[in-house]
Amino acid sequence: MTKPHIYITRNMPQAGIKLLEPTCTLTIGADLPPDRATLLKNIAEADAVLSLLTETIDAEVMDVAPNLKVISNMAVGYDNIRINDATSRGIPVGNTPGVLTETTADIAFALMLSAARRLPEAERYVKDGHWKTWMPSLLLGQDLHGATLGILGLGRIGQAVARRAKGFNMRIIYHGGSDETAARELGAEACTMETLLEQSDFISIHTPLMPETHHMIDAEAFARMKSTAVLVNTARGGIVDPKALYDALKSRQIAAAGLDVTEPEPISPDDPLLTLDNCLIIPHLGSSSVATRDKMATLAAENVLAGLRGDRLPHCVNPEVYDRR
Ligand code: GLV
Repeated sequence: MTKPHIYITRNMPQAGIKLLEPTCTLTIGADLPPDRATLLKNIAEADAVLSLLTETIDAEVMDVAPNLKVISNMAVGYDNIRINDATSRGIPVGNTPGVLTETTADIAFALMLSAARRLPEAERYVKDGHWKTWMPSLLLGQDLHGATLGILGLGRIGQAVARRAKGFNMRIIYHGGSDETAARELGAEACTMETLLEQSDFISIHTPLMPETHHMIDAEAFARMKSTAVLVNTARGGIVDPKALYDALKSRQIAAAGLDVTEPEPISPDDPLLTLDNCLIIPHLGSSSVATRDKMATLAAENVLAGLRGDRLPHCVNPEVYDRR
């Protein structure tokens, strides 16, 4: 029997490759994302594709691959995949939720602390040789402990951030994305978007990117925020309007931002946001621990294998696809 053909769009952790190797023929891409022509060429013969969030998997891609039985994205987010197009073609789409929750919450907290206490500026100050003495007014920032944290989207990752915030004695308010039991257990109060913007000292974004959330944090939203507010985004760059963010940071309408994600990615080296001391940007590292990336690769491979067997995917984002069968 011929082995099924899997196209893995980019190099990924061995943990996932090892699971697929024994029973599948693998085409594995390079470290960098494939260009569109390479993607279309390599997927044409594939029975399954294991993609990363850098690949746009749309109707054109699906249509050049007549044997495609499953799309498995090694990410919890799946805004790079046109889900309706997959569903209408009967293709289940898998993602990797759960395994990256705590690791991503860790980085959201790291960004909150770093942006609030100005750690990148402070490090530069020392390395540039400016540290002459202790000074009462040197590099003053915002306190995290005891502050109000507004969580936009109290789903899995938002809840993990809230658990950490409890240890910092923060008041937690949230808008969107939770069941009431989880919120009650965390002591998080539901509120309107306006209240969240107006009352939060820290705002942490944990909502998926969808047409409804695109540029949800815009000039109007910044105008409602406190001048001491710190905005943290570990979800998707497109949720924040970058021009409005620049204006808000430059004019000190808000105090600081910590971004793990940008629009576009990668951010251009000439982007004006990179000129601001109060904007900390890291290159989409939310889930980037050795252990978590191995778990994501394993889960993505398990989704592939289930899809090839015709079984329900362990983590399927379009379960309605099974109603069509
Ligand atoms: C990373 O951003 C992910 O969606 O897993």
